[in-house]
Amino acid sequence: MNPTASFKDTGMTVAASSAHQQEFRWVACASTGNTSASMAAYAARGNMQSLVLIPEGKISWGKLSQSLDYGALTCQLRTDFDGCVRILNELVRREPVYLLNSVNPYRIEGQKTAAIELMEQLNWQPPDHIIVPGGNLGNSSAIGKALLEMYELKLIDRLPKISIIQAEGANPFYRSVKEYNGNKLVPMTADTQATAIRIGNPASWKKALRVLRETGGEVEQVTELEIAEAKAEIGADGIGCEPASAVTLAGLKKLRKSGFVKQTENVVLILTGHLLKDPDFTIKFHRGDLFNEMPAQHPSAQTNALQRAPVVMDADLGAVIAALDTAERKP
Ligand code: F0G
Repeated sequence: MNPTASFKDTGMTVAASSAHQQEFRWVACASTGNTSASMAAYAARGNMQSLVLIPEGKISWGKLSQSLDYGALTCQLRTDFDGCVRILNELVRREPVYLLNSVNPYRIEGQKTAAIELMEQLNWQPPDHIIVPGGNLGNSSAIGKALLEMYELKLIDRLPKISIIQAEGANPFYRSVKEYNGNKLVPMTADTQATAIRIGNPASWKKALRVLRETGGEVEQVTELEIAEAKAEIGADGIGCEPASAVTLAGLKKLRKSGFVKQTENVVLILTGHLLKDPDFTIKFHRGDLFNEMPAQHPSAQTNALQRAPVVMDADLGAVIAALDTAERKP
């Protein structure tokens, strides 16, 4: 059911249960916001204390408010996600705290659920492609593991190609594959408004590489503008998502152009986080403020067509009717 509104819940319920079973008093994670929201919720339900390490100022209010309300000890460190991971790894060596980042194998086992449910919903007929966002690369690893296992168990008779999309400003895995043929990953300082995937040193890159190779998938990168437009398109379809999730649609467009995805093929995009996780981004997009913070990005006519800024007016019937007429004329 993903009760905290991101894909992290299926993995977290398994790993938090393991912490509970082992009678840990404290659980902890470093996070860009969704893992911490999920961990805090499951810790609260399981009567455990939770410690959250998040990068100061670089996570959305929706996610921060979740970890506060669920009662976590929330430490905003003056660093990025990768800096939070470094501190956490040292902490768990010194204190009796159970680590709930996606290097925890129970997280990966639980996160396989999305792929298994997907196949069940598709009547065990695999799509040609599955496309996921790539941050710390736990999700692509989990979905890949699930599909490879279902294939081995003959629950499915072929493997979908699993492709991974990163933001251009946070693309260490893309560069690893394209520049070093997957032989090494060079950590980078990451920057993107899709804060969920603002990660420069992904923990599970080797597992993700294996998934890419074994399924024949591709890795792609997308710009901030492409992410913003794709997000608005997903919203305009009545679904909505947070920025990091929209990299999948932006990536699909590129993979169609390059011919990697064919016109007739079936494609599944995994939507990883709810629209309300990051309302600031959405409001800035529709008001046009987002692009002031991205001088290198020039909104296109398509961007303008997707923007729906709120209209402030007097409480006057004529004004509302005039607004209706204007909207009728908008493409
Ligand atoms: N989409 C969303 C909404 C996320 O929150 C994350 C990761 C990803 C995609 C990428 O998944 O890391 O498995 O490759 N969020 C983590 C967090 C890092 O702390 O919430 P990944």
